Amino acid sequence: MSSAHYAPGPADHVPPELVRDFDIFSLPAGVEDPIAHWAALVDGDTPPIFYTPRNGGHWVLLDYEHIREAYRDHARFSTYQTPVPPIEPYPVMQPQGVDPPEHKRFRSLLAPLFTPAAIARMENGIRRRARELIAPFAGRGRCDFVREFSAVLPTGMFLHLMGMPEERLAEFHALSDVFMRSNDEAVRAANIADIYAVIDDHLAWRATHPGDTDLASVLLGARDEHGQPFPHQDLLNCGFLLFVAGLDTVTSTMTCIWRFLATDETARHHLRASLANRERLSAATEELLRINAVANLYRRVQQDLAFHGVRMRRNDRVVLPNSIANRNARVFANPTTIDLEREVNTHMTFGVGPHRCIGAHLAKAEIMVSLQEWLARIPDFRLEPGVRIEAYTGPVMGMRNLPLRWSNS
Ligand code: HEM
Repeated sequence: MSSAHYAPGPADHVPPELVRDFDIFSLPAGVEDPIAHWAALVDGDTPPIFYTPRNGGHWVLLDYEHIREAYRDHARFSTYQTPVPPIEPYPVMQPQGVDPPEHKRFRSLLAPLFTPAAIARMENGIRRRARELIAPFAGRGRCDFVREFSAVLPTGMFLHLMGMPEERLAEFHALSDVFMRSNDEAVRAANIADIYAVIDDHLAWRATHPGDTDLASVLLGARDEHGQPFPHQDLLNCGFLLFVAGLDTVTSTMTCIWRFLATDETARHHLRASLANRERLSAATEELLRINAVANLYRRVQQDLAFHGVRMRRNDRVVLPNSIANRNARVFANPTTIDLEREVNTHMTFGVGPHRCIGAHLAKAEIMVSLQEWLARIPDFRLEPGVRIEAYTGPVMGMRNLPLRWSNS
């Protein structure tokens, strides 16, 4: 398929009243909360389906039902070749970048590693890692939460999932640090090549040191319907997808949650009182996940169509902001109130439909265990006064630093 095939055409099908100037990669100076910046879109006169000419031009859906519909309808809204702005050719992430039914090939390989029972078996490992990270700074009375905790914990879990030796943690952490913090295009391109190289190296090692349950061994051992191994590039892309999908998202979600907790004494109190009660802690975590939905997903329109009265053209890109779906007043009572005892919570933080996040149980376990370990060891904490938080937005929203402070006396 030629690359031109997937490029969006000129936007002459877009009526001017549906156009707004919104850059999904840019935050106004001084904004420390990227989610609130997106949420402000629905307070003004923005149409629920609007088009921005930025970043190659794309649609943004703001309504919960529209977003859900697009997630579920892969025949109209594909995950194949979706980046904004268009980058072509783009690696086909397995299974996220493949439409059903083909996407099942890799999804069903991954699924057994992420069942609730499999995640329950990882809980001790998450707890050990959380304790090891907290110990060096607990007595110091301050830390940078991103650098010293939220960016490191998911990296450790990635190593575990891939069956990588623990000695590679520092090396991998350095790679993920650049991946999450750099916005220099050349640095990022080199960094992605380095990550692919490490995954490739690891697959080569695992080919001669097979394990039972790690993802690298599962991928290497898988066979297609003709008894053939899957193409090596697909294995690499699957490893890379897990890196992209499972690190930045957890880091950013935790960082947003901890920022909120640092500013809300009542919530801290509620959580401290819930630590030993799994059901209460689980409900509170779901609410923290609802309000801190950091992912904005991409889709590509498969053919010219009308979507709720709006004409879209083949290859148009569509952005699905989960944080906005999660603040819809028709679906959530008092949507902007953070109600840690909310009973009905059909949030869209992990997407919905065929590509719904396969790592959702793992992400939730990482957050719940971290809350337990952190709140058991760190006294009342606040934002470090006078230090600027550097926020970013895009397909994943987050903060590059979160300076926290507490008093041990
Ligand atoms: C709070 C953290 C996380 C958030 C907010 C999140 C969000 C999402 C969302 C919204 C999707 C749907 C993608 C789409 O429809 O195009 C997704 C898919 C996926 N996520 Fe997560 N994710 C998180 C953590 C994780 C973790 C920890 C892993 C694994 C280590 C993971 C692995 C995946 C994979 C493999 C897919 C693709 C599934 C498929 O295409 O069938 N995610 N995630």
